[in-house]
Amino acid sequence: MHPDLQPILIPPPDEPLLVLQERDFLRISHLAHQCFGLDLRDGKQSLVAARLSRLVHELGFSSFQQYCDYLLSDRTGAALAVLADRLTTNHTSFFREPTHFDFLCSTVLPAFRTCPRIHIWSAGCSSGEEPYSIALSALGSVPHLASRIAIRATDISTRMLERASTATYAADRIQPVPIALRSRYLIPTDAPDTFRVAPAARTLVDFARHNLIDPFPALRFSVIFCRNVMLYFDRPTHESLVQKLAAHLEPGGFLFIGHTDSLSGIDHPLQPAGPAVYRKPLRAPDSSRPLPPAPAITATTTASSTEKVSA
Ligand SMILES: C[S@@+](CC[C@H](N)C(=O)[O-])C[C@H]1O[C@@H](n2cnc3c(N)ncnc32)[C@H](O)[C@@H]1O
Repeated sequence: MHPDLQPILIPPPDEPLLVLQERDFLRISHLAHQCFGLDLRDGKQSLVAARLSRLVHELGFSSFQQYCDYLLSDRTGAALAVLADRLTTNHTSFFREPTHFDFLCSTVLPAFRTCPRIHIWSAGCSSGEEPYSIALSALGSVPHLASRIAIRATDISTRMLERASTATYAADRIQPVPIALRSRYLIPTDAPDTFRVAPAARTLVDFARHNLIDPFPALRFSVIFCRNVMLYFDRPTHESLVQKLAAHLEPGGFLFIGHTDSLSGIDHPLQPAGPAVYRKPLRAPDSSRPLPPAPAITATTTASSTEKVSA
């Protein structure tokens, strides 16, 4: 099974495993699809039971039926936010799919060297390793461009965003960071075996909550990372997400997807640019002329409509 779809939060042995009846599963999966685009059909009943059993116990309910009644009656949005937190997997790591960071620094960022500002979006950033990897690789490989970079990192999970905004990671989490970057930009904290991302990298990243199935903020990006997120969605949601991401790229901008994500069979205007990397054409799609290698692109700076997370 793909690591991002592994069951998590199995209840400890002292808690009885709750039975998730078909009716309650349908209520939960319908809500998760409607509100977050999650595709929980076909055979996902045991996965949902495993992920939510502990939550049901924590809330003091003795059945999924009681939990569903509470979920559907909650008007604050808080119960839904927790549901999203528990149903999605936040598996991530520093420099995950490392060739992407080489390509970013060797090809993508230099393409924007004439832009006063380079706007990057890490969409579905989980606990922050992805946006910080972008910042660290830029600082290490293209330091002359790093000060122009602004990374917006978003996720649906407030729990992950809170963790990300602390920028603090255990020693084993930072192992994939190249040694030269680790020694320079990961600072030991007072807690044992714990490191904090240095201010030089932290200041490039700003976190906000955003649900990818909601309308997007009025922003255009030079680069979007949306990796290992699409696998949660059904086909129409996946297709609509790719089209929205493409619409929010600058002409000549790049979209990075996960190596196990796919755009095949999806109607979109992007062209393949590298392994799991796509580029928006600089001119209208009906043009048959090839893209020039080093585009001069003017970045757009607009205000964000997402909900900012404070560190
Ligand atoms: C498996 S992690 C991937 C993290 C990172 N992009 C990477 O590749 O390592 C997927 C993330 O997508 C987020 N996610 C799932 N559905 C989402 C949605 N509808 N809107 C925003 N984020 C979502 C999850 O909360 C999770 O943190």
